[in-house]
Amino acid sequence: MAFETRFLNDRVVVAVGDSARQEVDAIVNAANSSLLGGGGVDGAIHRVGGPRILEECREIRRDRYPKGLPPGEAVITTAGNLPARHVIHTVGPVYGEHRGADAELLAACYEKSLKLAATHSLTSIAFPAISTGAYRYPRAEAATVASRAVKQFLENDATLTEVRLIFFSESDMKMFIKHQEFLNR
Ligand code: APR
Repeated sequence: MAFETRFLNDRVVVAVGDSARQEVDAIVNAANSSLLGGGGVDGAIHRVGGPRILEECREIRRDRYPKGLPPGEAVITTAGNLPARHVIHTVGPVYGEHRGADAELLAACYEKSLKLAATHSLTSIAFPAISTGAYRYPRAEAATVASRAVKQFLENDATLTEVRLIFFSESDMKMFIKHQEFLNR
């Protein structure tokens, strides 16, 4: 990766890039409840990852979530043709549509995805900036919520050795670094 900043004894890597190109054990998808694809990160993951990812998403919908994956939840599938072993699909909150539970739901996306990776004995994971695109979550607020959730998880976990936070632009990454709370006690 070109320019990157590390936190928490180098376990967290903040960088600019394409989530779909990250060579990690699990790439996290900013999905919607249908799990049937969309634009943004979701579009890139399905486009590059190929049809097998969608097939497994359809099975998950049929067998476990007939009404759709609720915001804050996460599920794991194959990564298809992506340079990863798994995709962890999580549904972020649409900003302002959860009667004040936005921050709690966004934190849950990170926590549940990290927990899923750890239970599958995965050691590296790459997140996009969940909810900060189509779901309109303000980037500064999202940075505070995401960094707190990741920090809290890593303080109690030894499985994950690399958590990448991937931003689509340098300005997005700088905004995150300005508002992250990794360094706070
Ligand atoms: N790699 C990394 N980051 C990306 C990429 C990519 N290929 N594409 C977009 N982004 C960034 C966006 O700039 C934004 O900052 O990821 C962040 C999340 O944006 P979205 O992908 O729009 O995700 P989200 O805001 O969670 O909205 C989810 O959008 O794509 C649809 O199907 C998806 O309905 C769901 C909704």
